[in-house]
Amino acid sequence: MSHHKNKRVLVGVTGGIAAYKSPELVRRLKDRGCDVRVVMSRAAEAFITPLTMQAVSGHPVYQHLLDAEAESGMGHIELARWAELVVIAPATANFIAKLAHGQADDLLSTLALATEAEVAVAPAMNQQMWQHPGTATNLEQLVQRGIRVIGPGSGDQACGEVGPGRMTEPEEIAAILAGDAIEPLLSDCRVLITAGPTWEAIDPVRGVTNHSSGKMGYALAQAASDYSARVTLVSGPVHLDTPEGVSRIDVISAADMLEVVMREVGKSDIFIAVAAVADYRPADVAKHKIKKSDDQDGMVIEMVKNPDILATVAALEKPPFTVGFAAETQNTIENAREKLKKKRVNVVAANNVGGDDSAFGSDSNAVTLVHSEGEVNIPPNDKYAVAIRMLQEINTLYRYQ
Ligand code: PMT
Repeated sequence: MSHHKNKRVLVGVTGGIAAYKSPELVRRLKDRGCDVRVVMSRAAEAFITPLTMQAVSGHPVYQHLLDAEAESGMGHIELARWAELVVIAPATANFIAKLAHGQADDLLSTLALATEAEVAVAPAMNQQMWQHPGTATNLEQLVQRGIRVIGPGSGDQACGEVGPGRMTEPEEIAAILAGDAIEPLLSDCRVLITAGPTWEAIDPVRGVTNHSSGKMGYALAQAASDYSARVTLVSGPVHLDTPEGVSRIDVISAADMLEVVMREVGKSDIFIAVAAVADYRPADVAKHKIKKSDDQDGMVIEMVKNPDILATVAALEKPPFTVGFAAETQNTIENAREKLKKKRVNVVAANNVGGDDSAFGSDSNAVTLVHSEGEVNIPPNDKYAVAIRMLQEINTLYRYQ
Protein backbone atom coordinates (compact mmCIF):
# COMPACT_ATOMS: atom_id res chain seq x y z
CA MET A 1 0.00 0.00 0.00
CA SER A 2 1.20 3.52 -0.76
CA HIS A 3 1.60 6.09 1.98
CA HIS A 4 -0.76 8.96 1.30
CA LYS A 5 0.84 12.24 2.33
CA ASN A 6 0.74 15.32 0.10
CA LYS A 7 -1.54 13.48 -2.31
CA ARG A 8 -4.68 14.32 -4.32
CA VAL A 9 -7.46 12.63 -2.38
CA LEU A 10 -11.09 12.23 -3.32
CA VAL A 11 -13.24 11.74 -0.21
CA GLY A 12 -16.57 10.05 -0.91
CA VAL A 13 -19.33 10.44 1.67
CA THR A 14 -22.31 8.06 1.62
CA GLY A 15 -25.51 8.19 3.64
CA GLY A 16 -24.96 7.06 7.19
CA ILE A 17 -24.96 8.76 10.58
CA ALA A 18 -21.15 8.47 10.62
CA ALA A 19 -21.11 11.14 7.87
CA TYR A 20 -20.84 13.65 10.71
CA LYS A 21 -17.20 12.46 11.04
CA SER A 22 -16.35 13.11 7.36
CA PRO A 23 -15.42 16.82 7.76
CA GLU A 24 -12.92 15.79 10.42
CA LEU A 25 -11.41 13.23 8.01
CA VAL A 26 -10.99 15.96 5.38
CA ARG A 27 -9.19 18.11 7.98
CA ARG A 28 -6.90 15.27 9.03
CA LEU A 29 -5.99 14.52 5.41
CA LYS A 30 -5.28 18.21 4.80
CA ASP A 31 -3.06 18.24 7.93
CA ARG A 32 -1.00 15.65 6.07
CA GLY A 33 -0.59 17.92 3.07
CA CYS A 34 -3.32 16.35 0.92
CA ASP A 35 -5.39 18.28 -1.61
CA VAL A 36 -8.92 17.05 -0.95
CA ARG A 37 -12.06 17.10 -3.12
CA VAL A 38 -15.37 15.77 -1.83
CA VAL A 39 -18.09 13.78 -3.55
CA MET A 40 -21.35 13.18 -1.69
CA SER A 41 -24.11 10.68 -2.44
CA ARG A 42 -27.69 11.97 -2.34
CA ALA A 43 -28.35 10.08 0.91
CA ALA A 44 -25.27 11.67 2.54
CA GLU A 45 -26.94 15.07 2.20
CA ALA A 46 -29.57 13.89 4.72
CA PHE A 47 -26.81 13.69 7.33
CA ILE A 48 -24.43 16.54 6.50
CA THR A 49 -24.61 19.59 4.25
CA PRO A 50 -22.45 20.02 1.13
CA LEU A 51 -21.66 23.51 2.45
CA THR A 52 -19.88 22.02 5.49
CA MET A 53 -17.79 19.78 3.26
CA GLN A 54 -17.05 22.71 0.94
CA ALA A 55 -15.92 24.82 3.90
CA VAL A 56 -13.49 22.20 5.23
CA SER A 57 -12.13 21.10 1.84
CA GLY A 58 -11.96 24.60 0.36
CA HIS A 59 -13.54 23.37 -2.90
CA PRO A 60 -17.07 22.96 -4.26
CA VAL A 61 -18.57 19.59 -3.48
CA TYR A 62 -19.41 17.23 -6.34
CA GLN A 63 -22.87 15.74 -5.96
CA HIS A 64 -24.59 14.62 -9.13
CA LEU A 65 -23.54 12.65 -12.18
CA LEU A 66 -25.62 14.58 -14.66
CA ASP A 67 -24.76 18.07 -13.46
CA ALA A 68 -23.96 20.18 -16.54
CA GLU A 69 -22.32 22.94 -14.48
CA ALA A 70 -20.02 20.56 -12.60
CA GLU A 71 -19.16 18.66 -15.80
CA SER A 72 -18.13 21.91 -17.47
CA GLY A 73 -15.56 22.37 -14.67
CA MET A 74 -13.83 19.12 -13.76
CA GLY A 75 -15.95 16.37 -15.37
CA HIS A 76 -16.40 13.04 -13.60
CA ILE A 77 -13.82 11.18 -15.69
CA GLU A 78 -11.33 13.98 -15.17
CA LEU A 79 -12.01 13.82 -11.43
CA ALA A 80 -11.45 10.06 -11.46
CA ARG A 81 -8.09 10.64 -13.22
CA TRP A 82 -7.15 13.53 -10.90
CA ALA A 83 -7.37 11.40 -7.74
CA GLU A 84 -4.34 9.54 -6.41
CA LEU A 85 -6.50 8.02 -3.68
CA VAL A 86 -10.24 7.58 -3.32
CA VAL A 87 -11.44 7.06 0.25
CA ILE A 88 -15.10 6.46 0.95
CA ALA A 89 -15.94 7.25 4.56
CA PRO A 90 -18.48 6.33 5.68
CA ALA A 91 -19.15 3.51 3.24
CA THR A 92 -22.65 2.12 3.78
CA ALA A 93 -23.64 -1.52 3.21
CA ASN A 94 -25.48 -0.36 0.09
CA PHE A 95 -22.45 1.44 -1.32
CA ILE A 96 -20.20 -1.57 -0.59
CA ALA A 97 -22.71 -3.79 -2.46
CA LYS A 98 -22.69 -1.41 -5.44
CA LEU A 99 -18.90 -1.32 -5.50
CA ALA A 100 -18.68 -5.12 -5.26
CA HIS A 101 -21.00 -5.52 -8.24
CA GLY A 102 -19.55 -2.73 -10.36
CA GLN A 103 -22.77 -0.74 -10.33
CA ALA A 104 -22.40 2.87 -11.48
CA ASP A 105 -25.69 4.63 -10.89
CA ASP A 106 -24.49 7.84 -9.25
CA LEU A 107 -21.44 10.08 -9.29
CA LEU A 108 -19.48 8.34 -6.49
CA SER A 109 -20.01 4.76 -7.71
CA THR A 110 -19.16 5.88 -11.27
CA LEU A 111 -15.94 7.54 -10.06
CA ALA A 112 -14.99 4.42 -8.09
CA LEU A 113 -15.21 2.40 -11.34
CA ALA A 114 -13.56 5.01 -13.52
CA THR A 115 -10.49 5.62 -11.35
CA GLU A 116 -7.14 3.87 -11.50
CA ALA A 117 -6.27 5.27 -8.08
CA GLU A 118 -6.08 3.18 -4.91
CA VAL A 119 -9.53 2.88 -3.34
CA ALA A 120 -10.16 2.57 0.40
CA VAL A 121 -13.47 2.20 2.21
CA ALA A 122 -14.28 2.83 5.87
CA PRO A 123 -17.50 0.88 6.44
CA ALA A 124 -20.12 2.11 8.90
CA MET A 125 -23.40 0.34 9.50
CA ASN A 126 -25.62 -1.44 11.99
CA GLN A 127 -23.89 -4.49 13.51
CA GLN A 128 -26.43 -6.97 12.07
CA MET A 129 -25.91 -5.50 8.60
CA TRP A 130 -22.13 -5.76 9.04
CA GLN A 131 -22.42 -9.42 10.06
CA HIS A 132 -24.86 -10.34 7.28
CA PRO A 133 -23.37 -12.93 4.87
CA GLY A 134 -24.34 -10.66 1.96
CA THR A 135 -22.10 -7.87 3.31
CA ALA A 136 -19.31 -10.36 4.06
CA THR A 137 -19.40 -11.69 0.47
CA ASN A 138 -19.34 -8.16 -0.95
CA LEU A 139 -16.39 -7.20 1.25
CA GLU A 140 -14.52 -10.33 0.22
CA GLN A 141 -14.89 -9.21 -3.40
CA LEU A 142 -13.51 -5.77 -2.56
CA VAL A 143 -10.54 -7.21 -0.67
CA GLN A 144 -9.78 -9.58 -3.54
CA ARG A 145 -9.77 -6.64 -5.95
CA GLY A 146 -7.21 -4.83 -3.77
CA ILE A 147 -9.63 -2.33 -2.26
CA ARG A 148 -8.52 -1.47 1.23
CA VAL A 149 -11.08 -1.95 4.00
CA ILE A 150 -10.38 0.17 7.08
CA GLY A 151 -12.29 -0.91 10.18
CA PRO A 152 -15.01 -0.88 11.27
CA GLY A 153 -14.57 -0.66 15.02
CA SER A 154 -16.85 -2.19 17.62
CA GLY A 155 -18.93 -0.55 20.35
CA ASP A 156 -22.09 1.45 20.99
CA GLN A 157 -24.00 2.25 17.82
CA ALA A 158 -26.24 5.20 16.96
CA CYS A 159 -29.17 2.76 16.67
CA GLY A 160 -28.72 1.76 20.32
CA GLU A 161 -27.17 -1.63 19.57
CA VAL A 162 -23.66 -2.73 20.49
CA GLY A 163 -21.29 -4.53 18.12
CA PRO A 164 -19.06 -4.16 15.07
CA GLY A 165 -19.94 -1.47 12.51
CA ARG A 166 -18.70 1.84 13.94
CA MET A 167 -16.69 3.87 11.45
CA THR A 168 -13.00 4.07 12.37
CA GLU A 169 -12.14 7.48 13.83
CA PRO A 170 -11.02 10.07 11.21
CA GLU A 171 -7.57 10.60 12.76
CA GLU A 172 -6.97 6.87 12.65
CA ILE A 173 -8.12 6.57 9.01
CA ALA A 174 -5.85 9.45 7.98
CA ALA A 175 -2.93 8.02 9.99
CA ILE A 176 -3.40 4.56 8.45
CA LEU A 177 -3.55 5.99 4.93
CA ALA A 178 -0.47 8.13 5.58
CA GLY A 179 1.41 5.11 6.94
CA ASP A 180 1.72 6.77 10.38
CA ALA A 181 -0.27 4.09 12.16
CA ILE A 182 -1.00 0.43 11.95
CA GLU A 183 -4.61 -0.47 11.26
CA PRO A 184 -6.69 -1.87 14.18
CA LEU A 185 -7.48 -4.81 11.90
CA LEU A 186 -8.14 -7.26 14.72
CA SER A 187 -9.66 -4.95 17.33
CA ASP A 188 -12.65 -7.27 17.76
CA CYS A 189 -10.53 -10.43 18.00
CA ARG A 190 -9.02 -12.49 20.77
CA VAL A 191 -6.00 -14.37 19.47
CA LEU A 192 -4.41 -17.36 21.19
CA ILE A 193 -0.88 -18.29 20.08
CA THR A 194 1.48 -21.11 21.10
CA ALA A 195 5.20 -20.51 20.66
CA GLY A 196 8.62 -21.95 21.34
CA PRO A 197 9.66 -25.53 22.00
CA THR A 198 8.37 -27.87 24.67
CA TRP A 199 10.66 -29.58 27.15
CA GLU A 200 9.88 -33.21 27.87
CA ALA A 201 11.70 -34.24 31.02
CA ILE A 202 13.75 -37.43 31.22
CA ASP A 203 14.87 -36.72 34.77
CA PRO A 204 15.14 -33.52 36.88
CA VAL A 205 18.08 -32.20 34.83
CA ARG A 206 17.65 -33.66 31.33
CA GLY A 207 14.96 -33.50 28.72
CA VAL A 208 13.97 -33.79 25.06
CA THR A 209 13.48 -30.52 23.21
CA ASN A 210 14.20 -28.83 19.84
CA HIS A 211 15.74 -25.70 18.31
CA SER A 212 12.64 -23.48 18.28
CA SER A 213 13.61 -20.07 19.66
CA GLY A 214 10.02 -18.79 19.90
CA LYS A 215 10.83 -15.85 17.58
CA MET A 216 8.12 -16.64 14.98
CA GLY A 217 5.37 -17.09 17.60
CA TYR A 218 6.47 -13.98 19.50
CA ALA A 219 6.53 -11.97 16.25
CA LEU A 220 2.96 -13.08 15.53
CA ALA A 221 1.91 -12.16 19.07
CA GLN A 222 3.50 -8.70 18.69
CA ALA A 223 1.94 -8.16 15.26
CA ALA A 224 -1.52 -9.30 16.43
CA SER A 225 -1.27 -6.94 19.40
CA ASP A 226 -0.16 -4.11 17.08
CA TYR A 227 -3.29 -4.87 15.04
CA SER A 228 -5.24 -4.25 18.28
CA ALA A 229 -6.15 -7.89 19.02
CA ARG A 230 -6.26 -9.12 22.61
CA VAL A 231 -3.46 -11.66 22.56
CA THR A 232 -2.64 -14.58 24.86
CA LEU A 233 0.69 -16.24 24.23
CA VAL A 234 1.30 -19.74 25.59
CA SER A 235 5.03 -20.07 25.55
CA GLY A 236 7.43 -22.95 25.94
CA PRO A 237 10.85 -22.23 27.50
CA VAL A 238 12.50 -19.39 25.51
CA HIS A 239 14.81 -16.43 26.16
CA LEU A 240 12.58 -13.67 24.78
CA ASP A 241 10.86 -10.67 26.31
CA THR A 242 7.07 -10.65 26.36
CA PRO A 243 5.76 -8.58 23.42
CA GLU A 244 4.09 -5.32 24.40
CA GLY A 245 0.40 -5.60 25.22
CA VAL A 246 0.46 -9.40 25.18
CA SER A 247 -0.58 -11.62 28.06
CA ARG A 248 1.90 -14.51 28.38
CA ILE A 249 1.54 -17.87 30.10
CA ASP A 250 4.72 -19.95 30.45
CA VAL A 251 4.62 -23.71 30.16
CA ILE A 252 7.26 -26.43 29.98
CA SER A 253 5.86 -29.62 28.45
CA ALA A 254 3.32 -30.48 25.74
CA ALA A 255 0.92 -31.68 28.45
CA ASP A 256 1.19 -28.29 30.23
CA MET A 257 0.71 -26.48 26.91
CA LEU A 258 -2.40 -28.52 26.10
CA GLU A 259 -3.89 -27.83 29.52
CA VAL A 260 -3.42 -24.06 29.22
CA VAL A 261 -4.61 -23.96 25.59
CA MET A 262 -7.79 -25.87 26.46
CA ARG A 263 -8.43 -23.47 29.33
CA GLU A 264 -7.96 -20.39 27.12
CA VAL A 265 -9.32 -21.51 23.75
CA GLY A 266 -13.02 -20.94 24.54
CA LYS A 267 -12.22 -17.23 24.87
CA SER A 268 -10.47 -17.06 21.48
CA ASP A 269 -11.60 -16.17 17.98
CA ILE A 270 -8.34 -17.18 16.28
CA PHE A 271 -5.86 -19.86 17.38
CA ILE A 272 -2.38 -19.97 15.85
CA ALA A 273 -0.22 -22.98 16.74
CA VAL A 274 3.39 -21.94 16.14
CA ALA A 275 5.00 -24.01 18.91
CA ALA A 276 7.30 -26.83 17.96
CA VAL A 277 5.60 -29.31 20.29
CA ALA A 278 7.46 -32.55 20.95
CA ASP A 279 5.57 -35.37 19.29
CA TYR A 280 6.82 -37.87 21.89
CA ARG A 281 7.84 -37.70 25.55
CA PRO A 282 9.65 -40.14 27.81
CA ALA A 283 7.16 -42.67 29.16
CA ASP A 284 8.53 -42.22 32.70
CA VAL A 285 10.30 -39.29 34.29
CA ALA A 286 13.00 -40.43 36.71
CA LYS A 287 12.60 -38.82 40.14
CA HIS A 288 16.36 -38.38 40.53
CA LYS A 289 19.18 -37.67 38.11
CA ILE A 290 19.94 -40.84 36.15
CA LYS A 291 23.49 -41.91 36.99
CA LYS A 292 26.01 -42.97 34.40
CA SER A 293 26.75 -46.63 34.84
CA ASP A 294 30.24 -48.04 34.08
CA ASP A 295 28.86 -51.38 32.87
CA GLN A 296 26.23 -49.87 30.54
CA ASP A 297 27.32 -48.63 27.06
CA GLY A 298 23.87 -47.63 25.86
CA MET A 299 20.58 -46.49 27.17
CA VAL A 300 17.03 -46.89 25.85
CA ILE A 301 14.38 -44.35 26.70
CA GLU A 302 10.85 -45.46 26.01
CA MET A 303 8.81 -42.66 24.44
CA VAL A 304 5.04 -42.24 24.28
CA LYS A 305 3.03 -40.03 21.97
CA ASN A 306 2.08 -36.52 23.10
CA PRO A 307 -1.40 -35.16 22.47
CA ASP A 308 -1.67 -33.07 19.32
CA ILE A 309 -2.74 -29.64 20.58
CA LEU A 310 -3.65 -28.24 17.18
CA ALA A 311 -5.77 -31.25 16.19
CA THR A 312 -7.48 -31.23 19.62
CA VAL A 313 -8.48 -27.58 19.17
CA ALA A 314 -9.65 -28.11 15.57
CA ALA A 315 -11.82 -31.04 16.69
CA LEU A 316 -13.73 -28.94 19.23
CA GLU A 317 -17.46 -28.58 18.63
CA LYS A 318 -17.02 -24.83 18.15
CA PRO A 319 -13.36 -24.32 17.26
CA PRO A 320 -11.88 -20.87 16.75
CA PHE A 321 -10.47 -20.02 13.30
CA THR A 322 -7.49 -22.36 13.49
CA VAL A 323 -4.08 -21.85 11.93
CA GLY A 324 -1.30 -24.44 12.13
CA PHE A 325 2.30 -24.42 11.01
CA ALA A 326 4.01 -27.15 9.08
CA ALA A 327 7.73 -27.40 9.62
CA GLU A 328 8.88 -29.45 6.64
CA THR A 329 12.22 -30.48 5.19
CA GLN A 330 10.80 -31.70 1.86
CA ASN A 331 7.58 -31.59 -0.24
CA THR A 332 6.61 -28.58 1.84
CA ILE A 333 3.31 -27.65 0.15
CA GLU A 334 2.07 -31.23 -0.38
CA ASN A 335 2.74 -32.06 3.27
CA ALA A 336 1.07 -28.83 4.42
CA ARG A 337 -2.04 -29.63 2.35
CA GLU A 338 -2.08 -33.09 3.89
CA LYS A 339 -1.94 -31.52 7.40
CA LEU A 340 -4.75 -29.10 6.45
CA LYS A 341 -7.02 -32.03 5.68
CA LYS A 342 -5.87 -34.41 8.41
CA LYS A 343 -6.01 -31.91 11.27
CA ARG A 344 -9.08 -30.16 9.78
CA VAL A 345 -7.69 -26.67 10.31
CA ASN A 346 -8.51 -23.49 8.35
CA VAL A 347 -4.97 -22.56 7.32
CA VAL A 348 -1.54 -24.19 7.41
CA ALA A 349 1.56 -22.00 7.21
CA ALA A 350 4.14 -24.14 5.49
CA ASN A 351 7.77 -23.35 6.16
CA ASN A 352 10.90 -25.08 5.15
CA VAL A 353 13.09 -26.00 8.07
CA GLY A 354 15.72 -27.96 6.18
CA GLY A 355 19.08 -26.61 5.03
CA ASP A 356 20.91 -23.39 5.81
CA ASP A 357 17.87 -21.10 5.69
CA SER A 358 15.86 -23.02 8.28
CA ALA A 359 13.20 -21.03 10.11
CA PHE A 360 14.29 -22.65 13.39
CA GLY A 361 16.11 -20.07 15.50
CA SER A 362 16.70 -17.59 12.70
CA ASP A 363 15.46 -13.98 12.50
CA SER A 364 13.77 -14.48 9.14
CA ASN A 365 11.25 -16.82 7.57
CA ALA A 366 9.19 -17.37 4.41
CA VAL A 367 5.88 -19.20 4.46
CA THR A 368 3.16 -20.36 2.12
CA LEU A 369 -0.31 -20.14 3.58
CA VAL A 370 -2.24 -23.16 2.38
CA HIS A 371 -6.04 -23.08 2.70
CA SER A 372 -9.00 -24.83 1.10
CA GLU A 373 -9.31 -22.24 -1.68
CA GLY A 374 -5.64 -21.88 -2.61
CA GLU A 375 -2.21 -20.73 -1.50
CA VAL A 376 -0.58 -17.42 -0.62
CA ASN A 377 3.18 -17.01 -0.78
CA ILE A 378 4.78 -14.74 1.79
CA PRO A 379 8.35 -14.11 0.62
CA PRO A 380 11.45 -14.14 2.86
CA ASN A 381 11.56 -11.31 5.36
CA ASP A 382 12.22 -10.72 9.05
CA LYS A 383 9.77 -12.65 11.22
CA TYR A 384 7.80 -9.54 12.27
CA ALA A 385 7.23 -8.52 8.63
CA VAL A 386 6.18 -12.10 7.79
CA ALA A 387 3.84 -12.05 10.82
CA ILE A 388 2.24 -8.79 9.64
CA ARG A 389 1.59 -10.22 6.15
CA MET A 390 0.33 -13.49 7.62
CA LEU A 391 -2.18 -11.68 9.83
CA GLN A 392 -3.47 -9.61 6.90
CA GLU A 393 -4.23 -12.84 5.03
CA ILE A 394 -5.56 -14.63 8.12
CA ASN A 395 -7.86 -11.66 8.82
CA THR A 396 -9.26 -11.82 5.28
CA LEU A 397 -9.75 -15.59 5.40
CA TYR A 398 -11.24 -15.43 8.93
CA ARG A 399 -13.78 -12.78 8.01
CA TYR A 400 -14.69 -13.56 4.44
CA GLN A 401 -13.98 -17.23 3.70
O1 PMT B 1 10.55 -20.63 17.10
P1 PMT B 1 11.38 -20.22 15.90
O2 PMT B 1 12.86 -20.42 16.13
O3 PMT B 1 11.07 -18.82 15.48
O4 PMT B 1 11.01 -21.17 14.68
C1 PMT B 1 9.75 -21.12 14.11
C2 PMT B 1 9.20 -22.53 13.79
C3 PMT B 1 10.07 -23.16 12.72
C4 PMT B 1 9.20 -23.41 15.06
C5 PMT B 1 7.74 -22.32 13.32
O5 PMT B 1 7.76 -21.48 12.19
C6 PMT B 1 7.07 -23.64 12.97
O6 PMT B 1 7.18 -24.15 11.86
N1 PMT B 1 6.31 -24.23 13.95
C7 PMT B 1 5.70 -25.52 13.85
C8 PMT B 1 6.72 -26.56 14.24
C9 PMT B 1 6.16 -27.95 14.24
O7 PMT B 1 6.14 -28.59 15.26
O8 PMT B 1 5.64 -28.35 13.09
P2 PMT B 1 4.93 -29.78 12.89
O9 PMT B 1 4.83 -29.90 11.42
O10 PMT B 1 5.60 -30.85 13.64
O11 PMT B 1 3.52 -29.56 13.57
C10 PMT B 1 2.37 -29.13 12.81
C11 PMT B 1 1.49 -28.27 13.65
O12 PMT B 1 0.92 -28.99 14.72
C12 PMT B 1 2.16 -27.05 14.26
O13 PMT B 1 1.24 -25.97 14.19
C13 PMT B 1 2.37 -27.46 15.71
O14 PMT B 1 2.32 -26.33 16.60
C14 PMT B 1 1.18 -28.38 15.94
N2 PMT B 1 1.42 -29.45 16.92
C15 PMT B 1 2.32 -30.43 16.64
C16 PMT B 1 2.48 -31.48 17.54
C17 PMT B 1 1.70 -31.48 18.71
N3 PMT B 1 1.82 -32.46 19.60
N4 PMT B 1 0.82 -30.50 18.97
C18 PMT B 1 0.67 -29.48 18.09
O15 PMT B 1 -0.12 -28.57 18.33
